[in-house]
Amino acid sequence: TPWAALPGSDLTFWPVEQNLDDELVTAHGYQYSVVMRWGDPVEEGAPVFDVDRQTPEAQAKQFGYNCDYIGLLPLGEGELRALLVVNHEYTNEQLMFSGVASEDAPTTPEQKRIAMMAHGISVVEVEREPGSGRWRQGTPSGYNRRITADTPMELTGPVAGSEYVRTSADPEGRTVLGTLNNCAGGMTPWGTTLHGEENFNQYFGTSAPIVEHRAEPRLARYGVSAEDRAVRHWEDVDPRFDLAKEPNEVNRFGYVVELDPYDPTAKPKKRTAMGRFKHEGANIQIAEDGRVVAYSGDDERFDYIYKFVSHKRYAPGDDPASRAHNLTLLEDGDLYVARFTGDSPAEQIDGSGEVPVDGGFDGTGQWIPLVLDGRSMIPGKSVAWVLTFTRLAADRLGKRLDERGNFYDPAAPVVVAPEMVPTRMDRPEDIQVNPVNGRVYAALTNNSNRTEGPDEANPRTRSWGFDLEEGTYEERAGNRNGHVVEWQETNGAAGTDFYWRIFLLAGDPEDPGTYFAGYDKSQVSALSCPDNLEFDPAGNLWISTDGNVLSTRNRLAGTFAGTNDGLFAVPTAGPERGHVKAFLTVPLGAECSGPLISRDARSVFVSVQHPGETTGSTRDTPSSTWPDRAPFRPFPRPSVAVVYRTDGGRVGS
Ligand code: FEO
Ligand code: CA
Ligand code: CA
Ligand code: CA
Repeated sequence: TPWAALPGSDLTFWPVEQNLDDELVTAHGYQYSVVMRWGDPVEEGAPVFDVDRQTPEAQAKQFGYNCDYIGLLPLGEGELRALLVVNHEYTNEQLMFSGVASEDAPTTPEQKRIAMMAHGISVVEVEREPGSGRWRQGTPSGYNRRITADTPMELTGPVAGSEYVRTSADPEGRTVLGTLNNCAGGMTPWGTTLHGEENFNQYFGTSAPIVEHRAEPRLARYGVSAEDRAVRHWEDVDPRFDLAKEPNEVNRFGYVVELDPYDPTAKPKKRTAMGRFKHEGANIQIAEDGRVVAYSGDDERFDYIYKFVSHKRYAPGDDPASRAHNLTLLEDGDLYVARFTGDSPAEQIDGSGEVPVDGGFDGTGQWIPLVLDGRSMIPGKSVAWVLTFTRLAADRLGKRLDERGNFYDPAAPVVVAPEMVPTRMDRPEDIQVNPVNGRVYAALTNNSNRTEGPDEANPRTRSWGFDLEEGTYEERAGNRNGHVVEWQETNGAAGTDFYWRIFLLAGDPEDPGTYFAGYDKSQVSALSCPDNLEFDPAGNLWISTDGNVLSTRNRLAGTFAGTNDGLFAVPTAGPERGHVKAFLTVPLGAECSGPLISRDARSVFVSVQHPGETTGSTRDTPSSTWPDRAPFRPFPRPSVAVVYRTDGGRVGS
């Protein structure tokens, strides 16, 4: 095995037991406070939030809905002030507005405009309580900013100006209004933030069926309907969301957005060189030779993991010239897609998740180029095409294709070079580099459709689940609980080879098909649907979850119960490697996202996204009233919270 044994770091907190409380429950010895809630004032002149008299103009200056990625950039000396940068992924109209009975119920034009303004990004000045890990909104000094579905942004890189992104409002194809469905993200060493545009397909539909034969796979492969209107009906207030009227608008979403929070006047930049897909997020590493490496998952069942390598090199130092140079690093580079090759006998990969006889789910990997040195690696297709229709490009690798251009079904073409075919993964989510040892970790959240065709990197086609009503375990088809894979680049971060192994197979520890890096399974917390990842400075991995449906045995009471999503922490090296412990759980109906640990490790920020998003729950009859607990007509508010030790110490330790 190429894996060196590395020293680890212990996590000393006592895990939170599973629960269905409508509360943010932290490990003993920790407290939380709410930093920003949906509707809190951000920009100057923002009115006080009034949920029953909300307007688009108010929302455009207030904190948006469904907070997700969190970045924290220092402001001034002393680590007492910072810029909090937060994604607002999507909206739950049924929880925002009275009288909207469900997530697909009709909304008024005014409600649609409010929802558009509740998307995007917030930049908020925050300040810290001296001597504590507690943060709160600070007095603004000019940095606070809202980015919405209407904010002008610049397309940069090879797609900018191409035929695929020209529209009637922007015949040059260089200026897009807004960013949508911003999920995870990252901070760059030069002080900007990156924001993935994920499920942008849900905003686009068509008022008339699209018959042009080349258009259909370009839409279908991204989940955009060529037949119907989208559920949100945004085209009622802005025709650019109607493909029949503006066929190229959809090609202007699905990128990584780079934002400079230190310059409130700077136009956000869509970095087309990093490809177009359902970008979960992007995380940066500086390679040994100074090139910038960015990893990004495409969050869809059976989709791919990508790596971008810049052409230019990072200039260390924060003098104006270096920073101006670094602000151009993501404009141009090479784009690769990952192939994971296993080394166990094929019959050992039987979908059960049980460890093969050679001792592990592991093997080698290759980064297969899609764009290299400014050239397209797809015969007959331009660089702009590859970077606009990146999924179609990756599907073509290693295959012989006919000339009609509608082979969006990767099963159809003839495989002529299997070693060039990228690996279809179980919904790649966040990818993070361990700051202590450079190993890379990717969350694969789940794949209910992988009921056959396991491979060594996605080895599960079934799992156990405890049925509360029957009182027994049942076998469930698909990879229901997800997994985490780790890899080590073989020839430096910018190289094309790596070796990999599975770190965790999530689920009920009593399921023999789960795996916690070999750790004693009777000691770990049940974990399901890993989504966002974060590292603390000691190199422990923190995992937030989205969509846990497990019912597991409570270790104290012995009885079985379901649980809310949460944030877990696990050492990645040393004798405690694989010892997963629940650090917090989020309120009812929420997913836990955006975990961020401050550089001094005194604070853990989390986004409590969509509290109260349960079946039948609405603004009029909400299942969650967190965090306000308003006495009259309470309703949930998606919020960023900060968790800190009551004694002011480092979190986790
Ligand atoms: Fe928005 Fe892939 O989570
Ligand atoms: Ca193996
Ligand atoms: Ca996510
Ligand atoms: Ca998710």
